[in-house]
Parts: sequence; C-alpha cells; structure tokens
Amino acid sequence: MLSTKVIDALNQQIRYEAESSQIYLAMASWAEFQGLEGVATFMYAQSDEERMHMLKLIKYVNERGGHAIVSELNAPPVEFGSFKDMFEQLLKHELFVSQSINELVHITLEERDYATHNFLQWYVAEQIEEEATARTILDKINLIGDDKGGLYLFDNDVKLLTSVKPPQV
Ligand code: FEO
Repeated sequence: MLSTKVIDALNQQIRYEAESSQIYLAMASWAEFQGLEGVATFMYAQSDEERMHMLKLIKYVNERGGHAIVSELNAPPVEFGSFKDMFEQLLKHELFVSQSINELVHITLEERDYATHNFLQWYVAEQIEEEATARTILDKINLIGDDKGGLYLFDNDVKLLTSVKPPQV
C-alpha cells in the first residue's frame, strides 16, 4: 500500500512527465515549422517517450491501490530562440526532472517504501541517459556552429540520434 506522501509525490511526477511531453511536442512543432525535419523527428520521439514515462507512473500508482491524477498542465513556450537555445532548454529541463526524481527516491526511503524505491530505479537510469543525449547534442552544435550549412549537417545528424525504443508501458 502506498502512503499518501508517496502518492502525492508520484502524482506530481506524473504532471512533470506530461508537461515534458508537451514541451518537446512544442519544440517538435517549432523545428518542423523552421524546416528542420531531423530535429523535429527527434523532438516528436522525445515527446512520445515522456508520455510513456507518464503512463508507466500512472499504471504503477493505480496498480498499487492509489489514484493516479491526470491534472491541468502548464502551457509550454511557443518560441525557442535558436536551436542552441532550444537544446540548452532541453538539458535544463532534464536536469530539473532528474532533481525531481531524486527527491521522489528520497521520499520513498523516508517512507520505507522499498517497492516504489525499486520501481523508480528505472527512472534514475533513464535520466542519466537523457542528460547524456542532451549534452551530446549540445557538443555537436558547438562543434558544427550555428550557420546555415552547419544547421543542415546538424539536422541530419540529430535524426540518427532518435532512439526508436519500443513502448515499455
Ligand atoms: Fe521523463 Fe525526460 O524525463
């Protein structure tokens, strides 16, 4: 049985994952509008992944006798400046999510909820991967440069980074 404190914290995480999905969807749409198909493909896939992160949490909470809440979300930004700015925002956002997961893990230890602690290890590993991907992309942008030719190369490159993971809900 989940404690109220753990349910509340998991529900907050459900909201963050849903907001992440919306942020990356907005980034995908912005990139597509700018004509960068590779970046858009990457961001659409990221958005789907975040939805999967959210669903995994919803199912866990409900399976353990809690009630997963589908809440109101903050609207994502509409404009993202340059592509470098956008990927910097992505990394910043992932660091925020990692911090939130860490806090959640801490709460499960305080509550002696070892099952949820174990469940969350998947998210801990996923955050390491997501932060690493964002850093790899920023390194590429810094190497290639922000001019038109560079952006074309970058767009092709980032498409290759799009992970085609099967849904793991
Ligand atoms: Fe689900 Fe990118 O954190």
